[in-house]
Amino acid sequence: MKIKACIFDLDGVIVDTAKYHFMAWKRLADELNIPFTENDNEQLKGVSRTTSLEIILRKGNKVYSDTEKQAMAMKKNEWYLVYCSTINETEILPGIKPFLDALKVNHILIGLGSASKNALLILDKLNLTSYFDAIVDGNKITEAKPNPMVFLKAATELNVEPMEAIVFEDAEAGVEAAIRGGFYAIGIGDPEILGKANLVLRSTNEIGMELLNLN
Ligand code: BG6
Ligand code: MG
Repeated sequence: MKIKACIFDLDGVIVDTAKYHFMAWKRLADELNIPFTENDNEQLKGVSRTTSLEIILRKGNKVYSDTEKQAMAMKKNEWYLVYCSTINETEILPGIKPFLDALKVNHILIGLGSASKNALLILDKLNLTSYFDAIVDGNKITEAKPNPMVFLKAATELNVEPMEAIVFEDAEAGVEAAIRGGFYAIGIGDPEILGKANLVLRSTNEIGMELLNLN
């Protein structure tokens, strides 16, 4: 099957915002006296803001009202946006920009499939928005990864079938979403965590046009 599109997760694939998400969640967890490590953070990658908060609160032993939880999620996002305020093109992960250029030259469609409600803001800061033929973010979906909705919606907007598209993901939940949706999933990161992917690359440095001939 000829690959017609590449669909990218944002946080941890295009830019290393995963570290800022972690810093902000860690700050909240510390305030609440809930133990939270980088290892725990793996479960938060790719999932929505509200689900992330639920996962953290489950590690503590207190019950909070919906109003308290909303305030916590808002506070985390305010911190996250402060950490992201200085992001610019220099923080695009290695290999991504040349790959996007090569996709454009070869008329391969480019999509975004991100759980983040801040995706547009981050893409703008990176000066990458104009590369994307379809952008599906956390504001456009009702079901979060590992549900495939975000990628299926991107494929529909790009007018391609899932089997004609590659999904690039750094999160376990994201890889699962891509596989469930019928896409060719390329994991970026630790093969032990992303083992369900069709292929795992250690870093975005290894991404190149040859990947389009693999499936
Ligand atoms: C995902 C991140 O891309 O977006 C998660 O991997 C994050 O860590 C989620 O929680 C939601 O992001 P935001 O920006 O809407 O809080
Ligand atoms: Mg990610």
